[in-house]
Amino acid sequence: MKHLLSATDLTRDSAITILDTASQLAAATAQGVGKLPPLRGRTVVNLFYEDSTRTRTSFEAAAKRLSADVINFSAKGSSVSKGESLKDTALTLEAMGADAVVIRHHSSGAPHRLANSGWISGGVVNAGDGTHEHPTQALLDAYTLRRHLRDNNGDLSGVKVAIVGDVLHSRVARSNAILLQTLGASVRLVGPPTLLPFGVETWGCEVSYDLDGALDDVDAVMMLRVQRERMNAAYFPSAHEYSNRYGLNSARAARMPEHAIVMHPGPMNRGMEITADVADSKRSVIVEQVSNGVSVRMAVLYLLLGGTEGTA
Ligand code: CP
Repeated sequence: MKHLLSATDLTRDSAITILDTASQLAAATAQGVGKLPPLRGRTVVNLFYEDSTRTRTSFEAAAKRLSADVINFSAKGSSVSKGESLKDTALTLEAMGADAVVIRHHSSGAPHRLANSGWISGGVVNAGDGTHEHPTQALLDAYTLRRHLRDNNGDLSGVKVAIVGDVLHSRVARSNAILLQTLGASVRLVGPPTLLPFGVETWGCEVSYDLDGALDDVDAVMMLRVQRERMNAAYFPSAHEYSNRYGLNSARAARMPEHAIVMHPGPMNRGMEITADVADSKRSVIVEQVSNGVSVRMAVLYLLLGGTEGTA
């Protein structure tokens, strides 16, 4: 695999290879051996045209833990604000010897353009493109589900996951719907009809508009951020009504089976799609998702830049 652009790039076996490699790298890191050597002399560029806390910092931590050199490029404060194109930015990064470019962009398809343009010779990782995809988020979510529900082994056959909320604007939902099904899980999408995308019936998932009726048989609930910055119309009457019908509060969490976990990719709108007490509850794995993101991104960079399974 040279690039990771979409969850559709991953087969069951290649996804499991990434998850297994992440487990090995997490174990090596936990042993406190300090930096691991495999990417010494390689350069990873974080090319971020959109804001990020978790993804950018975890890619940076992942690359550094593997001894790569890291260049952090944020469109804000760069020559992009003077009108420099993606092509000229890419050519500049190529001239600096980038071995891999991790790109987040507000336009769906920008990582594909970068990977298929010939502007750069290194690998491209999609760190979130518009409302399209966020494949490493889906991988870290699969890793988290596997740790809690499958003792960190194999695939996710038989696991039931409800993905709840603003599916329409969510690249996290799209990548998870693809990857979790590739790994054998069943996915239920829950949200108001206005926030479910046109053609959602082709995603292979169950669809529900009723959160209260969608919780009693799930192994995990993944709450989605309401992405008001991407909304150009009124998708629901008010924040209060949205959280009444689609917010995860303690009464709703009590409907979930005892073993079921609560997930959220972050950043959260506390009090909107999830209440603070549920976000901070024992069944919440939201902070752990962030830690797991570092291990999974280490595995992706390691495998993309030439590592092979079992040699981590
Ligand atoms: N989950 C996620 O992509 O978070 P950031 O926007 O903070 O990177």
